[in-house]
Amino acid sequence: MKVFDNKGNLTIQKATKQNKKQVLKKLKSIGKISNSTNCQVVFDNLYSTDENILLVVIKNLGKLKDKKYIKYFKKVIRTNESSLVRREAVSSLGRLRDRVQIEYFIKLLKDEDPNIVLQSIRALLIFKKTPRVKKALKKMKKHENEIVRQVISNELADETHNSGKCASKDFFINSIINGDSREILEFIPNNVIDMTFTSPPYYNARDYSIYKSYKEYLELLCGIFKQLMNKTKEGGFLIVNTSPVIVPRFSRSYSSKRYPIPFDLNYLLCEMGWEFIDDIVWVKPEYSVKNRIGGFIQHRKPMAYKPNTVTEYLMVYRNRTNKLIDWSINQYNENIIAESKVDDDYEKTNVWHVSPSSDKVHSAIFPEDLCNKVISYYSFVGDLVFDPFGGVATLAKSARSNDRNYMIIEKEQKYFEEIKNRLPEAKIITLKELKNGNFKNRDV
Ligand SMILES: C[S@@+](CC[C@H](N)C(=O)[O-])C[C@H]1O[C@@H](n2cnc3c(N)ncnc32)[C@H](O)[C@@H]1O
Repeated sequence: MKVFDNKGNLTIQKATKQNKKQVLKKLKSIGKISNSTNCQVVFDNLYSTDENILLVVIKNLGKLKDKKYIKYFKKVIRTNESSLVRREAVSSLGRLRDRVQIEYFIKLLKDEDPNIVLQSIRALLIFKKTPRVKKALKKMKKHENEIVRQVISNELADETHNSGKCASKDFFINSIINGDSREILEFIPNNVIDMTFTSPPYYNARDYSIYKSYKEYLELLCGIFKQLMNKTKEGGFLIVNTSPVIVPRFSRSYSSKRYPIPFDLNYLLCEMGWEFIDDIVWVKPEYSVKNRIGGFIQHRKPMAYKPNTVTEYLMVYRNRTNKLIDWSINQYNENIIAESKVDDDYEKTNVWHVSPSSDKVHSAIFPEDLCNKVISYYSFVGDLVFDPFGGVATLAKSARSNDRNYMIIEKEQKYFEEIKNRLPEAKIITLKELKNGNFKNRDV
């Protein structure tokens, strides 16, 4: 074959690349395999050193479902260095659904590569009812990889599951409650809340948020978000708006301290079982934020660089479930899904430019525009949206204009009075009523 020209090596490379491309194209075009399929290109490339080619070769070989390739697959699993190639070989071996291979797959559960372990679990699940397999899979409940643990707990879970519905929900529709969320939440029935959007108090940065220590502050938030898991329906969303906070320096010989709240809280939320979904960066115009860069503009000394902070985070989480998002969506009827369809001008990236809002009563409120976005992207018409750190209930206002219902808890009396002014139609629920469990007698 004339692959050389007077330009030397580059041409050889080009020719080889082109050749590989052709082989790959041929392999990929095979599709379904029948008796009349010409598989020569598969057999010619059984020992290809190209990972992409080998992947498709093994995939096609798997489609043949022929036990005479078992040895070949096992050799690939034993000797190949690519995780993808090895996984494909395990998958092709699994396609044979050969009981004789059960012990081999059980052995693979000890593989160092979680991809191989997961693929072997898939192969074994076909024989899930076999006591030997059941026992081996049960042992994987404590596997060090979190996805392996999740798959095993889903697959071996009892079929009966929580319906995600709460009979007392109506009682809490468009309600406001004055008190500490830690205490109030205890008396809220499980599965009432569809979605939560909240902005917890800043750590020691405002007069309404003074805590003994950062530890105590995080414990308060965790106590509330932990209870919220049970109160939120299966697969429901939680969106938490926070940003790092600076506590001013003690004196000139000390530096100010910056607390990375979104990052510390993220770890704690994931540990307790909220599933991290997305991080959205809320960008405010520079003129609206505190000027920190002033000193640096003068001296330009490295390390003393302090940019103006124009961002906050909206961390998005989903409540514990082994169901896909589609399952959550399908809990609603077609009309609700159609009515809830998001308008054309939705945010295309995770960077949202929204101007902050000011308020004569509260110093740190949500811009309504931010609430509108969160409500329309993470809840459906008719849902009950919740804010455990209600402030002056901006979320409630936005909920009403988006045909959602609200439940708001606010601790400070002066803000609660303002909520009552702003939401005269709201139902006021007292702690006494909750303690008496009045709602239990008013089921839908
Ligand atoms: C950042 S503000 C929220 C403002 C609100 N997003 C709005 O738009 O009006 C936090 C609020 O949480 C309230 N708060 C603090 N700790 C609380 C607790 N344990 N239970 C209920 N509310 C609390 C504070 O009084 C404050 O009004």
